[in-house]
Amino acid sequence: MTISIIGSGKVGASIALNCGLRELDPNINLIDIIEGLPQGEAMDINHQLSVQGLDSYLVGTNDFSVVKDSDIVILVAGVGRKPGMTRMDLLKTNATIVKDVASKIVHYNKNSKLIVVTNPLDPMTYLALRITNFPRNNVMGMGGMLDLSRFTSFIHDYTKLSRDSISAMVISEHGEKMLPLIRFSSISGIPLTNFINESQSNEIYEKTKQVAAEVIKLKGATVYAPGNAVSIMAEAIVKDKKSVIPLSACLDGEYGIKDVCIGVPAVVGRNGIEKIIELPLNDFERKEFESGVQNVREAISVLPL
Ligand code: 2OP
Repeated sequence: MTISIIGSGKVGASIALNCGLRELDPNINLIDIIEGLPQGEAMDINHQLSVQGLDSYLVGTNDFSVVKDSDIVILVAGVGRKPGMTRMDLLKTNATIVKDVASKIVHYNKNSKLIVVTNPLDPMTYLALRITNFPRNNVMGMGGMLDLSRFTSFIHDYTKLSRDSISAMVISEHGEKMLPLIRFSSISGIPLTNFINESQSNEIYEKTKQVAAEVIKLKGATVYAPGNAVSIMAEAIVKDKKSVIPLSACLDGEYGIKDVCIGVPAVVGRNGIEKIIELPLNDFERKEFESGVQNVREAISVLPL
């Protein structure tokens, strides 16, 4: 399978590096409108992969038409979140960019899988889906996998148990109504609540929701964890892994909801989103999930569609 990454800023480059480290594609295209940027990033990443003996070659280009041969297109173009901003603050600016890029993608390639990374993630995934008119199983947003990486990191901090033994889930909006699911998290199959008390659960829950803003305040952007999260999704497609991954999908009746992109667990394989998994949510979880849906619906209602 071949991969194109559109947007060569810090996150685009981190995605390229992580896809290269996983050797997902012999030639990974890194695209940007800024002349020199994708070429320079590709050279730098190639130098790392070379000494590691990894046969994924980064190709930096300003020529958008290379997406025509790609099985997976990753859309990361857009403006990043700055200190003090919410993801929704980027809605208008990034909607213009995502609309333009999605139109170009469908012009060159109607059959690729599309992974959307641009914020606000769920509305941008919806916009890309509507502009490309791709089947809904071919379009997914990367938000939940990143939120999950933070949730599991805090679970480790509180339990001091191996990261390798932690299994967890985060659903709903990649935004203010993100929903880390303590009840669906475990340490090697043993419920997480056996290891932490209620106030620790609440702290992990709140910290998971807030930590991206803290990283952005400290260093200006989140880079490594998003790059890795996207590469996990791409790997599940390339290797037809049937991995269960939290991602933004367009619901069509699942969870009793239609026509909105929101974070849910899904089976990911060669055919993209192969199944959306419906969790038996309790009253609190259901309420939070629905307010996430409501936030995304409000954003969608002002999109240029
Ligand atoms: C993140 O969560 C900003 O959405 C981006 O890192």
